[in-house]
Amino acid sequence: MRIDRWRGCAVAVAALLMGGTLPAMAQDAATIAAQGNGKGAAPCQTCHAPDGGGQASGGFPRLAGENAAYLQAQLDAFASGTRDNPVMKLQASALTEAERKALAIYFSKMPAVATPDAGGSTPFADPEHLGETLATRGRWSKQVPACEQCHGPGGVGVGADFPPLAGQSANYLAAQLKAFGSGSRHNDPMGLMRHIAQSLGDRDIDAVAHWFAAQPFPPKESRP
Ligand code: HEC
Ligand code: HEC
Repeated sequence: MRIDRWRGCAVAVAALLMGGTLPAMAQDAATIAAQGNGKGAAPCQTCHAPDGGGQASGGFPRLAGENAAYLQAQLDAFASGTRDNPVMKLQASALTEAERKALAIYFSKMPAVATPDAGGSTPFADPEHLGETLATRGRWSKQVPACEQCHGPGGVGVGADFPPLAGQSANYLAAQLKAFGSGSRHNDPMGLMRHIAQSLGDRDIDAVAHWFAAQPFPPKESRP
């Protein structure tokens, strides 16, 4: 009896020394994703879907399988306002820093998926292959590099800085390009996306967004 109590105590002390609540934290993220945190953050999955795949019609992005540091940076940016979105400001501000971190890790560990119907309900006609040209070659007359140079081949994403565009909904991608262009999203390192977005017209944006939405994610070669 006495030994048991001592053991419980030792486990608690060890947990505290190790930074406390790591196993509990993972649990918390799953609970918040499904039920909210009871302090103003809504269940993430109502908008981002139970598998983290997002919803094309609402412009709700896929979070599953994205880089944890990238996701956390976005949550911080919503809270601080360098990424201006009223819906996500409410969510991110209602989360503690530890909760934002735990949720970023939680979604990054979910199996990568493409958003269902990422291209939208009506097929996008691009007979001149404008989207593919911008993605793979860029437009040097306007100093726009190929998107793939930073976002990886087929837009699969590169590390924490360059998020995947493949399989993300066209709706969402186009909205982000417009947000970078207007400056309502200005959390990109060194303003890398701002100049690019400002150099594209509406038709360019729609075309390139649809091209990336149609690319496979996870990329075929990384599938088991
Ligand atoms: C009411 C709907 C709604 C809820 C609930 C919601 N989100 Fe969002 N989320 C959005 C929308 C809309 C966007 C896109 C915002 C924009 O256009 O900048 C977004 C974007 C994001 C992004 C940026 C993704 C990227 O690729 O840059 C992250 C991260 C995120 N949400 C995490 C969460 C988490 C974590 C929760 C739960 C605590 C949550 N969201 C709850 C609607 C929602
Ligand atoms: C010089 C590097 C670079 C090039 C070239 C580039 N991007 Fe980006 N892009 C970035 C960075 C960095 C971010 C992440 C910004 C952040 O941290 O919020 C980003 C973010 C994005 C996002 C937001 C993704 C999300 O999940 O919210 C979209 C959409 C995007 N880029 C589209 C494009 C398109 C389309 C092109 C080609 C026309 C392109 N990018 C070319 C660097 C680049």
